[in-house]
Amino acid sequence: MTSSLSSLSSTSNLTLSASLSQEGSQGAAHEALLSGEAQLMRVAARPARVMVRGSGSYIWDHAGARYLDFVQGWAVNSLGHSPPELTAALSEQASILITASPAFHNAPQLQFAGELVRAAGLAQVHFANSGAEANEAALKLARKWGRLHRAGAYEVITTENSFHGRTLAMMAASGKPGWDQLFPPKMPGFVKVPFGDAAAVAACIRPETVAVMVEPIQGEAGVVVPPEGYLSELRALCDSHDLLLICDEVQTGMGRTGTLFASQHDRVEPDILTLGKGLGGGVPVSAVLANERASCFVPGDQGGTYNGNPLMIAAARSVFAVVSQPAFLARVRAAGAYLQERLSIVCREHGLALRGRGLLWALVLPDARASQVVEACFSGGLLINAPRPNLLRLMPSLRVSDAEIDELAAILQGAILRGAIRS
Ligand SMILES: Cc1ncc(COP(=O)(O)O)c(C=O)c1O
Repeated sequence: MTSSLSSLSSTSNLTLSASLSQEGSQGAAHEALLSGEAQLMRVAARPARVMVRGSGSYIWDHAGARYLDFVQGWAVNSLGHSPPELTAALSEQASILITASPAFHNAPQLQFAGELVRAAGLAQVHFANSGAEANEAALKLARKWGRLHRAGAYEVITTENSFHGRTLAMMAASGKPGWDQLFPPKMPGFVKVPFGDAAAVAACIRPETVAVMVEPIQGEAGVVVPPEGYLSELRALCDSHDLLLICDEVQTGMGRTGTLFASQHDRVEPDILTLGKGLGGGVPVSAVLANERASCFVPGDQGGTYNGNPLMIAAARSVFAVVSQPAFLARVRAAGAYLQERLSIVCREHGLALRGRGLLWALVLPDARASQVVEACFSGGLLINAPRPNLLRLMPSLRVSDAEIDELAAILQGAILRGAIRS
């Protein structure tokens, strides 16, 4: 029994759904399935629901309950759940070639590399599997570049409350409160300064400094938008001190903020750019891009079994073909403006602050009740997320419709009115 349940828990959502209906009694099957939870390492507290199917802006659980999804896998499903372009690309590529090993070229990787670097105005790309892995590659590039061109400079300036991933190096790079105490000893080589403060960066630059690494908008910290001109000031500092500017656009990239990359709002070109999340539209793929100056890997420096495998890259390429269209990005900006308008009304009524850009927004609550609001929304059929105790974050499909935004506003308003937060 246990082994059949654990094998079920590792199959696809569709298989789960089929298994549930085959057993006849969905409730009993669900209970039995959930007993498999004991065999999962407990890295997250999850509600007693099994998500079985998604389409566009909606996701359904085992009991048939439908949720309007303004989380979208944490800003991953850029085109919503199971978009036709992506499922077609996956099934076509799966029938041709899934993996050839990173020791060989494959067609999707060769094609997509050119498309992506041209769009970013950079020189070269390396594909990986997760945002943290792309950021690790960025750090390796910076350290190698420091050894080659800056007499061994290695130190990277990052920002307080930043989030760059969960590998040990990226936990050290991140400024997430409390992380400095976890899993000692911490990897050295990072200096933290307040976000949005270019003078604080300038004050920390010393001969050992090799790079400044920053999110154009801090996502996990609660969609913190820096003051106008911040990124340009960092660019100027990096130029005048011969440092590399690394933009972590794992969350803000691929159209999320209304331009293909958030750094384009400021007309800033980083030396190194990292992408993940929305790049694959739900398929795990990430990328580190670099200009000619910074792109210094040679064989043996970086790699990974699944890096650049044709299935993942074909998926990313199909998403990119949609997201990189100027008309698509214009629609993201229009949907973002409408979302801002609807959220502003809710925020004005309840005395909440609102911040964000494009289709990445956060509401700042007066107290630490974000999880109660998330739960109230969940019972009302809406998924939103609380990255901090007083913050609600919204990151819908980039294809979200005005009607879905209206539905979000109504459920959110209802959750607040049900007394989940004090106004
Ligand atoms: C800005 C940023 N960088 C890196 C990461 C890590 O990405 P992943 O979880 O794919 O490793 C995240 C994840 O939320 C992120 O928001």
